[in-house]
Amino acid sequence: MSKIAIKKDVFWVGALDPARAVFDGLLPLPQGTTYNAYLVTGSEKTALFDTVEPEFLDVLLANLEGVEKIDYIISHHAEQDHSGSIPALMEKYPKAVLLCLQKNKEMLLDLMDIPEDRIQVVADGGEVSLGNKTVRFMHCPWVHWPETAITYIPEDKMLFPCDFLGSHHSFTELFAGDNPDVYKGAKEYYVQIMMLYSRMTAKHLDRIKTLDIEYICPSHGPVYDQPQIILDLYEKWMRGEPENLALIAYVSTHGNTRIMAEHLQTALEKRGVRTELKDLVTAPLNELAGLLTDAATIVLGSSVVMAALHPVAVNVAFLIDRLKPKAKFVAVIGSYGWSPGPLQKAAELLPSLKAEIVGAVITKGVPRAPALAELDALAGTIAAKHREAGLP
Ligand code: FEO
Repeated sequence: MSKIAIKKDVFWVGALDPARAVFDGLLPLPQGTTYNAYLVTGSEKTALFDTVEPEFLDVLLANLEGVEKIDYIISHHAEQDHSGSIPALMEKYPKAVLLCLQKNKEMLLDLMDIPEDRIQVVADGGEVSLGNKTVRFMHCPWVHWPETAITYIPEDKMLFPCDFLGSHHSFTELFAGDNPDVYKGAKEYYVQIMMLYSRMTAKHLDRIKTLDIEYICPSHGPVYDQPQIILDLYEKWMRGEPENLALIAYVSTHGNTRIMAEHLQTALEKRGVRTELKDLVTAPLNELAGLLTDAATIVLGSSVVMAALHPVAVNVAFLIDRLKPKAKFVAVIGSYGWSPGPLQKAAELLPSLKAEIVGAVITKGVPRAPALAELDALAGTIAAKHREAGLP
């Protein structure tokens, strides 16, 4: 996909990466991703908004073919998927000045070789004129690094929010419209890199909402031509209540913990609680992540191996704890052979969650009638908690 016009004198010039399998070496990317760069031609100055992952430099340069002059390269964020090609672009366009916030300047100088005398720092709220277009800078820390800027062109009603509001979706259509695949990619992306900071960054969403926006041009995924959809979703993900949903995430070595997980699922559904059952050995982590914005209860299930919780359960517990979902309730289930201790301490793996521990059902070997009755009771407790909380 080559250079595409978004509106008059504003072009997408980025790179698609449909084959990228994982992001940050962590979550699968079933829809790949993109590295978006935008070319904005004002009546007096031309600006390139961000660059691309360095291995896609050739794609960016091909998209810029015929562009003789770039006056400004705007860096919103120092991470290499957007800034890694800045040195090459500054070499190709020797008169270009790099515009960024002070904090970003410091980080860029740490991370790559850029001539410092070609960097012009812009203040939070500062504006740079391209002639008939103005670029307004807003410092929006922790979306998801401390230096990140969002820019806005009031004349075009266009927002460039960098990583914020983005999606992992290597598109065939530049505009997102109401394509559910885009918003699925946006949700998993939000959980992976934005959710942890949502208490601090919701104010940026409020600031954005005061702007008159026709297009949102993020750093990953399609351009939002119906901006209210993603703004409403972020409002829900950041501030909304979790749903009447229990996520049962389990790993089972010999099937006993699986029997417990499936029994609990049935018991919860009978009591009006929606469930998602995920076998952690086979469920892709991105699917699990996509549920973390919604689930009011997280049930961690594990067997005991090597005198410890199963390492797959430990890994997922660590991730859940670091991502800090809004879950209100946590429970533990599992079967052991001779050592119940690791299961009894499992909830300690989630110290960052502000969730109430509502129960643990731990059984030796095959779950028989008493354990199944305990699971029924746990389901009753969870259903009651959800009702009391008035969850949607
Ligand atoms: Fe898409 Fe934080 O880089």
